[in-house]
Amino acid sequence: MIEAGRILACGLVVASLASDAAAQRIPEAEYPNAGRALALRLCTPCHVVSPDQETGPVLRQRTLSFAEIARQPGMTAEALRNFLATTHSTMTGPMRMPNPMLDEEQLTLIVSYILSLDHAAPPPRRDRPGKEG
Ligand code: HEC
Repeated sequence: MIEAGRILACGLVVASLASDAAAQRIPEAEYPNAGRALALRLCTPCHVVSPDQETGPVLRQRTLSFAEIARQPGMTAEALRNFLATTHSTMTGPMRMPNPMLDEEQLTLIVSYILSLDHAAPPPRRDRPGKEG
């Protein structure tokens, strides 16, 4: 039993070192850019990630653009992380966002991209609610 516990503890240390190392490969100043690239791959089906993204959201329900998310009063890295690390879909009720299953590094990058938009120029007026189809 002691042996098994040791092996487990050892594994945890190795795993956390590995993820620290992964996060350190990208310099912190590059987090928003790397997060943007990732979000352009993962989130564009349902959100306006960046006004210049190649394809718009295919989801018919209107969602907040990332710039709007960033500008919500009281928006913090903590709140974003909590949202992105949990599942929202249920069998009943309106369409909710599925858990995007991001790993720790992906979370850090995407959160830093979203928060970087707080100071960005306002998005073009065309993505106002209720204008689409
Ligand atoms: C399958 C469609 C879908 C995908 C893909 C998706 N989202 Fe969402 N997202 C939604 C919907 C629908 C909502 C609004 C309903 C809700 O809050 O669950 C939402 C809401 C959010 C919110 C909360 C906005 C608020 O009200 O404050 C955040 C933050 C968010 N998404 C981030 C992301 C990120 C980051 C990704 C990519 C990793 C992503 N989403 C991918 C559908 C999606």
